[in-house]
Amino acid sequence: MELKNLQTGLSNLRGEISIPGDKSISHRSIMFGAIAEGKTVVANFLLGEDCLSTIECFRKLGVQIEQKDGEVIVHGKGFDGLMEPSDILDVGNSGTTIRLIMGILSGRPFHSVLLGDESIAKRPMTRVTKPLAQFGAVINGRNNGEFTPLSVAGRQLKGAVYELPVASAQVKSALLFAGLQAEGKTTIIEPEKTRDHTERMIRAFGGTVNVNEGSISIDGGQSLTATDIYVPGDISSAAFFLVAGAIIPNSEIHLKNVGLNSTRSGIIDVMSAMGADFDIIPTTTDVDKEPVGDIIVRSSSLKATVVSGTIIPRLIDEIPIIALLATQAEGTTVIKDAEELKVKETNRIDTVVNELKKLGAQIEATPDGMIIKGKTKLKGGSTVSSHGDHRIGMMLAIAAAICSDKVLLEKEEAISVSYPNFFAHLESLM
Ligand code: S3P
Repeated sequence: MELKNLQTGLSNLRGEISIPGDKSISHRSIMFGAIAEGKTVVANFLLGEDCLSTIECFRKLGVQIEQKDGEVIVHGKGFDGLMEPSDILDVGNSGTTIRLIMGILSGRPFHSVLLGDESIAKRPMTRVTKPLAQFGAVINGRNNGEFTPLSVAGRQLKGAVYELPVASAQVKSALLFAGLQAEGKTTIIEPEKTRDHTERMIRAFGGTVNVNEGSISIDGGQSLTATDIYVPGDISSAAFFLVAGAIIPNSEIHLKNVGLNSTRSGIIDVMSAMGADFDIIPTTTDVDKEPVGDIIVRSSSLKATVVSGTIIPRLIDEIPIIALLATQAEGTTVIKDAEELKVKETNRIDTVVNELKKLGAQIEATPDGMIIKGKTKLKGGSTVSSHGDHRIGMMLAIAAAICSDKVLLEKEEAISVSYPNFFAHLESLM
């Protein structure tokens, strides 16, 4: 296996980078473009492997999708324009693709089969298949519908009321896709507010969705109309450079074009609580659109914090890099209420704790999170692994930057799932 020799002992990171498109919004732009009528032009689409898997799945469903001059153009023909695929739909590593597409396929009058990589094969699917069954969906899989391969026997769905047992935007979104094509009304009750890109996009495509305190309702039988989408930069990708700027000495990084949707910006609140030195310059003010801005982050003197409760869904994907940040903060940082980390691309409690320990961090796993003692000098002198998880790979590359000894990274290629030019951006700041 080829190992990547990570840059260590960086004395500063300075300059400006433009953050690549948001993964969640990129997936949804293809899905909505496909089920809407007309031509949807998507600008700043994330050409990462996960989003390319979504494009390939919809091509197999008969949707014409072009990639031209940095834009993606989806020629939608409405829900009825989707056709029975003659081949398996391969979602690769993408949990968002497989979970959201089930909400679409379960209401289409044809058969389809979903398969992904070895990480997807371990990720729980009954969180989507069970509520969809209440809508009348018929989805089978290994272990009573828990694991891939999944087969979907699509049919006319009926709207339902469903209370989510876990806060999950993927489950909510799958049910909204089902509800859009069902007979009658659908209401989803969320234990905590999760990312609302799907709700925003229903409106952008001319649909109606009612968002109340703790619940979301939509009427079935809606038809959507194509629109142009601008995908803001992914705050989950920006997070690696936000933390890099704060923990690497003599640094000042200007992150351009970062999505600042409040359902995603928990890391900003955590960095504030830890005393990080940064400024936010909002660049859009249109309240109906996804908010966007620039962030300038500088080397900071940090203090520990507690990360728990309702903030967790607002920063769930940033916990690996927040754990690294905490190793450089004075005091003990506690992350709790984050059991969901166990069912991400890897068990992120275990992978974060085990890999950061190899570099010299004082970090322990708990049943629902981790405890990190700072401030610790990370040493390195070890081989670490992404375990095939893009966010673990990027976190380790930033961790290596503050190590004194050599660090080698196994499975570097996982990073292209969400940030293909991550190392180019990192090098441009050196
Ligand atoms: C996502 C929702 C989150 C997140 C994932 C993307 C989405 O997953 O971790 O990376 O695009 O809806 P859950 O819904 O499982 O929390």
